[in-house]
Amino acid sequence: MSTRALFITVEGIEGTGKSTNLRFLLECLVARGIDPVVTREPGGTPIGERIRELLLDTGHGAMCDDTELLLMFAARAQHLAQVIRPALDKGQWVLCDRFTDATYAYQGGGRGMDSGRISVLEEWTQRGLRPDLTILLDVDPEVGLARAAGRGRAADRFEQERLEFFERVRARYLDLAAAEPERFRVVDAGRPLPQVQADLARIVEELTAHG
Ligand SMILES: Nc1ncnc2c1ncn2[C@@H]1O[C@H](COP(=O)(O)OP(=O)(O)OP(=O)(O)O)[C@@H](O)[C@H]1O
Ligand SMILES: [Mg+2]
Repeated sequence: MSTRALFITVEGIEGTGKSTNLRFLLECLVARGIDPVVTREPGGTPIGERIRELLLDTGHGAMCDDTELLLMFAARAQHLAQVIRPALDKGQWVLCDRFTDATYAYQGGGRGMDSGRISVLEEWTQRGLRPDLTILLDVDPEVGLARAAGRGRAADRFEQERLEFFERVRARYLDLAAAEPERFRVVDAGRPLPQVQADLARIVEELTAHG
């Protein structure tokens, strides 16, 4: 088994099953004697959760793209300082619901911001720290948004975007995965949950078998 603590992120559009499957991944890891920190972005710290509220608030329609991008990285800086780095430093695995790939996908792909500007902030904030493994749960946005709507809470500032926005986000996620096949595992999340989770269980098995 790997002795080094791994930083694992789960990515994908709204309703693809990130939160559902993060709980499943946690169970798989705990069954193997690994007790990861489970966290999310934007958020994961008291300051980050306040920034998350700002970002998701539908009353903030005036938020410009630069503000959105900088708030994402402000929350991330706090998360890295307070949660992610301390955990990894003491040998604890980290399982995170969204991370910087979401910034490339949403602010880059979705909003159309220059990815060069995002990578400047990535380097500034992370100083080379990147996930060891990223699971991309890929789903047709129509399916994902219908699932998200089925949870019955009001749409947040991102969920109010049009279908085309999520098509661009999905496409950018797939580009990111294609560019770094060694870091990404793309899982077809349009299938029934047991099939998705069979793939996830296999990924965890691989990860903990050869470390
Ligand atoms: N493969 C699947 N088949 C059918 N339903 C699913 C599947 N995966 C998740 N769901 C359901 O879809 C809904 C959304 O899932 P979940 O909340 O995990 O998505 P999410 O990716 O975390 O969304 P968000 O980005 O909005 O947080 C939940 O009701 C969940 O039970
Ligand atoms: Mg979720």
